[in-house]
Amino acid sequence: MRIAVYPGSFDPVTKGHLDIIKRASRTFDKVYVAILTNSSKTPMFSLEKRLEWLRRSTQDIENVEIDSFSGLLVNYLNEKDSNIIIKGLRAVSDFEYEFQMALMNRKLNPNVETLFMMTSGKYSYLSSSIVKEVARHKASLDGLVPDFMIEEITELIEKKS
Ligand code: PNS
Repeated sequence: MRIAVYPGSFDPVTKGHLDIIKRASRTFDKVYVAILTNSSKTPMFSLEKRLEWLRRSTQDIENVEIDSFSGLLVNYLNEKDSNIIIKGLRAVSDFEYEFQMALMNRKLNPNVETLFMMTSGKYSYLSSSIVKEVARHKASLDGLVPDFMIEEITELIEKKS
């Protein structure tokens, strides 16, 4: 069975992430979408909320499972019997950081392969940071995240500011 792991902060999940999840689900038998800690970012939304949004957004995709983990990505892969990390690439600007992480993960476990999938062109401008920025300024989140999340994101960000 070909098992892949798609890791990230998903703060919040965007239509760009969901595009990658769908593509990965067609390529692998099983895809774990795992919320991990990025030590250089403090999340805006709780882990519970991020899990709930991911679960609801992917409920129709049978071979996708949403999960979270607090340690190293390579240890999570080990736990799930996988050696494949899926990452989405939007632009050349993503490359340097992703390249560094891919090499570090390979150093930590030489059996691990990082596979990059190109995001659909229409999402190439999209990121969780952009979504938060747009929401902070009360502009429309239409088309950036699934419709059911829009009101909740707007309310949660309003409460925080
Ligand atoms: O969506 P992000 O914030 O770009 O995702 C980054 C993430 C969470 C995948 C990355 O920070 C990560 O893998 N964190 C877990 C700790 C780890 O294994 N770090 C990489 C090797 S040092």
